[in-house]
Amino acid sequence: MRSQLSTLALLCHAAATGATSVLLSNASSIITFDAKTEALAVLRHGSVLVDGDQIAGLYEGAALNHVRNDTEVVDCTGKIISPGFIDTHRHGWQTAFKTIGSNTSLAEYFLRYGEYVAGQFFTPEDVYVGQLAGLYEALNAGTTTNLDHAHHTWSNKTSEAGLKATLDSGARVVWGYTFHNVTNFTMSEQTANFRDIMASFPSNNTLVTPAMAYDHWASNPYGKDTQNIMALAREYNVSAMTTHYLGGPWDNANSPELFQTLGFLNGSIPCVFSHASFATAMDAKLLRETNQYIANTPESEMHYGHTHEHSYDMQDQMALGVDTFFTYSTDMPTQARLWLQSARYQSYNQIMSQWEIPPYNPMSVNQAFLMATRKGALALRRPDLGIIAEGAKADLLVYDGRSPGMLGWVDPVAAVLLHANAGDLEHVLVGGTFKKRHGKLTVPDYGAVQDRFLASALKIQKAFRDTPYPAMQGDFSSGFPYVSAREADVKREDGTGYGELFV
Ligand SMILES: *[C@@H]1O[C@H](CO)[C@@H](O)[C@H](O)[C@H]1NC(C)=O
Ligand SMILES: *[C@@H]1O[C@H](CO)[C@@H](O)[C@H](O)[C@H]1NC(C)=O
Ligand SMILES: *[C@@H]1O[C@H](CO)[C@@H](O)[C@H](O)[C@H]1NC(C)=O
Ligand SMILES: *[C@@H]1O[C@H](CO)[C@@H](O)[C@H](O)[C@H]1NC(C)=O
Ligand SMILES: *[C@@H]1O[C@H](CO)[C@@H](O)[C@H](O)[C@H]1NC(C)=O
Ligand SMILES: *[C@@H]1O[C@H](CO)[C@@H](O)[C@H](O)[C@H]1NC(C)=O
Ligand SMILES: *[C@@H]1O[C@H](CO)[C@@H](O)[C@H](O)[C@H]1NC(C)=O
Ligand SMILES: *[C@@H]1O[C@H](CO)[C@@H](O)[C@H](O)[C@H]1NC(C)=O
Ligand SMILES: *[C@@H]1O[C@H](CO)[C@@H](O)[C@H](O)[C@H]1NC(C)=O
Ligand SMILES: [Zn+2]
Repeated sequence: MRSQLSTLALLCHAAATGATSVLLSNASSIITFDAKTEALAVLRHGSVLVDGDQIAGLYEGAALNHVRNDTEVVDCTGKIISPGFIDTHRHGWQTAFKTIGSNTSLAEYFLRYGEYVAGQFFTPEDVYVGQLAGLYEALNAGTTTNLDHAHHTWSNKTSEAGLKATLDSGARVVWGYTFHNVTNFTMSEQTANFRDIMASFPSNNTLVTPAMAYDHWASNPYGKDTQNIMALAREYNVSAMTTHYLGGPWDNANSPELFQTLGFLNGSIPCVFSHASFATAMDAKLLRETNQYIANTPESEMHYGHTHEHSYDMQDQMALGVDTFFTYSTDMPTQARLWLQSARYQSYNQIMSQWEIPPYNPMSVNQAFLMATRKGALALRRPDLGIIAEGAKADLLVYDGRSPGMLGWVDPVAAVLLHANAGDLEHVLVGGTFKKRHGKLTVPDYGAVQDRFLASALKIQKAFRDTPYPAMQGDFSSGFPYVSAREADVKREDGTGYGELFV
């Protein structure tokens, strides 16, 4: 493992130094950020100069006078330049499940696809190639940074395979090694594996930073596992600690309140609480006081039924994430759009249910855009990400402003968030290096990766076809009863039209 990672480090370094300077020249609009007002700004008819992995300057016009002898000029006439998106909750390894869980529920997910049951179907190769394909999928859609709750840590080999794919992908990833109570790999073996990985982590790799994920806080707050996790996080000063916080009848109340009681919330390690479905008023207060964040995953929380009763009122300490992208969309603009419209619905409904008429719109596209960019960076305490400003990392997206869907735009923020799709995204740069160019991933032999991934996916999908769906009767593991939600009825007369899954 050690020698494997060192070889990787060299490759990553070579790739990183390949980029010297790029001028994204003469764009129609650049979505910039003004640190003084903490607000988006738009530079019309301008250029972005990239030097190494950073934004070196923003200029009006084509800025050809800023070109050096090592600068590559990329004509962006007619285009929109946006900061890359930040996904604060993703499980990258799950790509092979694509489309097989389109109707799943959270209770069924735990029993069928989750970290405690799926491990037996995944070899290290499956984890590697699924993680790689999943990160390419994210890059293709403009996600330049993600916080990976990497719960494929079922053995030394599957853990290392997921990390290797992450390093190989060229994405910026805060990689959360997950400590969990799984079969065949004890917490102390996980700790030894984590220490091994940390000892050989390529320190000059600038894109992937080690983090931790752990969900057993509430089930065992004062036990030795939780104490060990806190000590380990501090020992390595990891770049984030993330946890699933559901609460309510789901139990699993890994809350800010609990973190504060344990003395872990108010420190230098960013803590990211995914979902926060049943967050309390005290949670919200503590997040503000300690400047920690929740990762709201709008599509997942609607799909699975985690719900998010109070998230609308916690947006000042909230970022967005995708979660289990095999069940629905992978991209952050879709998440921001779903959040925006559902948040509006929720706010309007408070008025409309009283038969009153709202004259104004309660949430702007500008706010939703910040949720998918700047707020994600703040959750990770990375003020150098998620914005276009001098000195920030050069994680940049170039949209074709003349695509059929975008044609006619005036406001670039609304154009990107509401009218663009991943197909309109021409170039993606991470740390100043092209990861997508002229609409195609820059992966050397992506066809071979696709074939390798499909062989793995085919095998896993067959195994799931052969696995009966779990019976869910009586109570969920938390002791709360299963009660079926009323099935939609889309058919006149007999039956509801639920239909089958074509898997
Ligand atoms: C990067 O790290 C590798 C070992 O992990 C080392 O061989 C190489 O010299 C380092 N490069 C730089 C520029 O520090
Ligand atoms: C580029 O300019 C630098 C000085 O600014 C010079 O040292 C270097 O040799 C030049 N490179 C080429 C390829 O002309
Ligand atoms: C810059 O873009 C404008 C349109 O916005 C175009 O008229 C002009 O020719 C472009 N300049 C260069 C140098 O490409
Ligand atoms: C999803 O659909 C399949 C096939 O129709 C069905 O067997 C399964 O129970 C459904 N799952 C849920 C959670 O409703
Ligand atoms: C645990 O290991 C046993 C023996 O190797 C194997 O049969 C079983 O599938 C493993 N369980 C899981 C969940 O990986
Ligand atoms: C791990 O699982 C075992 C058996 O399911 C259980 O007895 C134990 O309490 C669990 N430990 C934690 C930390 O949740
Ligand atoms: C996993 O790695 C740890 C730490 O290096 C080592 O002690 C252990 O023997 C390894 N386990 C296996 C099954 O290789
Ligand atoms: C941990 O790392 C962060 C970010 O680099 C730094 O600001 C902080 O001072 C470090 N904390 C400790 C205890 O070293
Ligand atoms: C967090 O720590 C700072 C100083 O380290 C202290 O001033 C503040 O009161 C603490 N806040 C909470 C909520 O613990
Ligand atoms: Zn999750």
